[in-house]
Amino acid sequence: MSFLDLEDSVAPNEKVAARIKVVNAIRNLNWDDRVLCVRVNAWDTPWTYEDVIEVVGHAGSRLDEIMMPKVRRASDVVAMDLLLSQVEKNAGLPVGHIGIEAQIETAEGLINVEEICAASPRLETIVFGPADFAASIGMPVTTIDEHIHDGPSNPFSYVFAKILMAGRANGLHVIDGPFLKVRDLDALRFAATISFSYGFDGKWALTPDQALILNEVYSPSQELFDKSFDILDAYRVATEHEHTGALMFGDEMIDEASAKIANSFVARGERSGMKRTKE
Ligand code: GLV
Ligand code: MG
Repeated sequence: MSFLDLEDSVAPNEKVAARIKVVNAIRNLNWDDRVLCVRVNAWDTPWTYEDVIEVVGHAGSRLDEIMMPKVRRASDVVAMDLLLSQVEKNAGLPVGHIGIEAQIETAEGLINVEEICAASPRLETIVFGPADFAASIGMPVTTIDEHIHDGPSNPFSYVFAKILMAGRANGLHVIDGPFLKVRDLDALRFAATISFSYGFDGKWALTPDQALILNEVYSPSQELFDKSFDILDAYRVATEHEHTGALMFGDEMIDEASAKIANSFVARGERSGMKRTKE
């Protein structure tokens, strides 16, 4: 997924001019088959509705998603859903064509994340925004780096668990946000491993170098990918031919739940183009 930004990376006096640049970029650059998203400004600014009208109105046919920053409550998403429906009708697009990614980056958004994740069928992804979130809760940090995770306390552990549960309960992709110390790739790897360990599907990359590391962290290792296929084979033989639901796989007992876990690793690996070593 690639996203173009109209929000915090654009200076306030450039907000209006940025819209046409984004429209031109969507229309004129080669995005191949990448999922393409534009982050609009939040509802508490003067810019949101015109961001949507301009971008979806003029480039909506190639656009896949709108990203909403600083979502605070379910009605923020409902309002976006209604606005998108009107803009799609006027632009001759099928209603429902544009999906929504919602960023959770305030204490209020986190408290309401369960309702937010269930607020619209357009929702595809829930995204944690650590920088705004740190500001929102008054964390004593000036950047988002690995030290957030190894300090004397780590409020992000609660945040990760809460966002993950709300996202999964509603069938959404769950994504971790940016890592700002962009030159330190080892530190990025460490930080990414933490949200991966909760089950997050990925993390924002701010540079191509970060993207390489993150693709590695959030894809299963070849060993895990191959083991998942082996578990599925063993489980299939046991259930179909030996009429047993629980069996030993080396030193591990496996059953239906193990097959579900294995299936999720196979799906993740296949999404990133992996192939089983042994056919
Ligand atoms: C991203 O938008 C963040 O605030 O971390
Ligand atoms: Mg933010």
